[in-house]
Amino acid sequence: MPTSNTLHLGVAQSALNQAAQLLRDGELVAFPTETVYGLGADARNGVAVANIYAAKGRPSFNPLIVHVPDVASAQRYVVWNDTAQVLADQFWPGALTLVLPLREGHGLSSLVTAGLDTLAIRVPNHPTAQQLLRLADAPIAAPSANPSGRISPTTAQHVLAGLSGKIAAVVDDGPCGVGLESTILGLTPEVAVLRHGGVAAEQIETALGCALTQAGPNKITAKITAKITAPGQMLSHYAPVEAVRLNVLDPQANEVVLGFGAIRCDLNLSASGDLIEAAANLFGHLHQLDKTSRPIAVTPIPEHGLGRAINDRLRRAAAPR
Ligand code: TXA
Ligand code: MG
Repeated sequence: MPTSNTLHLGVAQSALNQAAQLLRDGELVAFPTETVYGLGADARNGVAVANIYAAKGRPSFNPLIVHVPDVASAQRYVVWNDTAQVLADQFWPGALTLVLPLREGHGLSSLVTAGLDTLAIRVPNHPTAQQLLRLADAPIAAPSANPSGRISPTTAQHVLAGLSGKIAAVVDDGPCGVGLESTILGLTPEVAVLRHGGVAAEQIETALGCALTQAGPNKITAKITAKITAPGQMLSHYAPVEAVRLNVLDPQANEVVLGFGAIRCDLNLSASGDLIEAAANLFGHLHQLDKTSRPIAVTPIPEHGLGRAINDRLRRAAAPR
């Protein structure tokens, strides 16, 4: 994780080129969108994405929104459908995030989706964000650029107050226009508002020509919706098929062993004991071990830094279901 001084960049062409290069190099760059400032990283680079969690001090791995400059770019990462097209025609670029099935060969780090087979994706409506995405020529994963548990930033000063010294740069283009995060709409294939935000539910109802109903204090679903998926909140949101045991030092003969550090195992999250590397490998390794159809034993992982988020996710995977 970078600990040097955070660059405070403007929006001159040279500054944006520098920001784009940093992103391509796997560094973290905060940038303005019309909703809030995002903390960006190359979504294909697992270590860069792991560093987002480290910089924010997030205690768990919530899936992240990927930002792209246009619909054609979005279609490289998700399975597109007619409803998505209607919504994109109306609201993109803009404050609407669509959750769609991941497309085969997407090339994104599994940490971006926290191991899910769906992806939250959005085309921001902000000239600087647009320029940066085109210059970086990469899908950019970006949560709001604030430390975990703090308020979302709507100025570069907010970003620096929370993350200075922990990220490579912030691109400063003044305050965000919307000042509220994007609305997140699940289309997998049920239509469900997963988070209220910059695009009003009524506007979505009008665009889709169907009524949305209130289904909880902060969630509404289309009448056609059977269920809501709120992955971050569910205890076993990514659970391997077979049982998972944690803090195992004496694995049983039938178990496959997921290791950490200098230890004998079938797959190692990080042989050198690097928690950032371990986070980047976590979901990919779990998927791989899951394919063996054997119970998974996980060796101890330290409960500090990204180890907390790794252990949180593993506890969910190990939860009774
Ligand atoms: O306006 C915004 O959306 C800002 C700017 C930077 O674009 N980003 C933002 O990201 O608010 P974040 O990480 O703070 O919130 C992302 C939300 C999380 O609550 C997460 O659970 C949800 O998106 N999410 C991400 N991927 C998902 C998925 N595959 N299915 C359901 N929800 C997902
Ligand atoms: Mg946030």
